[in-house]
Amino acid sequence: MRVVVTGGAGFIGSHLVDRLLARGDLVTVVDDLSTGRRENVPAGVALIEAEVADLDVIGPVFAGADLVFHLAAVASVPRSIAQPLTVHRANGQGVLSVLEACRAAGVARVIVVSSAAVYGNSAGVQQEDACAKPESFYGIDKLAGEMYLQAYHRLFGMTGLAIRPFNVYGPRQPLDAVYGSVIPRFVARLKAGLPVQIEGTGEATRDFTYVADLVDGLLRAAGADAAVMNGQPVNLAVGHAISVLTLAKELAAAAGVDLKPLHGPARVGDILHSQADISRAKKLLGYAPQVSLKEGLAITYRALAHA
Ligand SMILES: NC(=O)c1ccc[n+]([C@@H]2O[C@H](COP(=O)([O-])OP(=O)(O)OC[C@H]3O[C@@H](n4cnc5c(N)ncnc54)[C@H](O)[C@@H]3O)[C@@H](O)[C@H]2O)c1
Repeated sequence: MRVVVTGGAGFIGSHLVDRLLARGDLVTVVDDLSTGRRENVPAGVALIEAEVADLDVIGPVFAGADLVFHLAAVASVPRSIAQPLTVHRANGQGVLSVLEACRAAGVARVIVVSSAAVYGNSAGVQQEDACAKPESFYGIDKLAGEMYLQAYHRLFGMTGLAIRPFNVYGPRQPLDAVYGSVIPRFVARLKAGLPVQIEGTGEATRDFTYVADLVDGLLRAAGADAAVMNGQPVNLAVGHAISVLTLAKELAAAAGVDLKPLHGPARVGDILHSQADISRAKKLLGYAPQVSLKEGLAITYRALAHA
């Protein structure tokens, strides 16, 4: 199968590319290398270095593709708040440009990677049919991407699914990203022999998903029954949340240190609680996450601390 992965030089995208190559697919990556790394793209994979919003440049890359995974995005709530227009070009205009390229090329299946950020601070366990109320520009652009995909399905019969990952972690997450996510930030501190710095009280909860489980869900989504691929959103997570304080303890245990966390002010735009209902993914995709938090954190700590 000929597959295009946008954002394939990034954290999740590069793990997906590895799995696609292992099953014998012919893979092309479109990535502007803004946070992704050239060395994440394995030999045998064509890397087109371009911005996804630049339709004239990326359009021809999609000709002949059977399947597209769209992951390219500025994957950061704080950066979307600091630089809304720049981030909108990547995340809002970017997804529309990729869908337009897919339509023009007649791509059979399109998987758009959205985010749990579309839920905002809605209470309780998050189910796909709940009213989405994003709190940040990042979440707004992700929700727009889902709605564009649904419109392409209605208007042009495009076959696809919108995937809502929750907090994904694993090897290849950059430790030094200015707007990095919580696990690599904690690992960087522990690796330096320093206590982790929690933003806020640490009572915020997150549904942490190991990257291999997420990739398994993405591959299942791409192979779903065409009848369900109407652009609908599907949560991919574990379906169990832990607090950031518990995460800090678990990671300190994985690092073999006993350091009391420090606390700073909460981050603007961050949501308080995030936990997925994964029954749709189970039902439609036969998805079942395999990696326990303890196991996933141990692998991740080893990989990131020795990178
Ligand atoms: N990591 C998570 O916990 C998480 C959770 C929910 C959703 N997501 C989504 O998953 C996808 C992958 O995220 P990630 O964590 O691997 O982040 P990442 O930053 O490692 O990957 C994003 C990739 O997209 C590329 N990119 C960014 N802007 C681009 C542009 N305008 N044109 C072309 N390429 C561009 C980057 O260089 C990078 O390689 C993103 O869409 C993100 O929003 C991630």
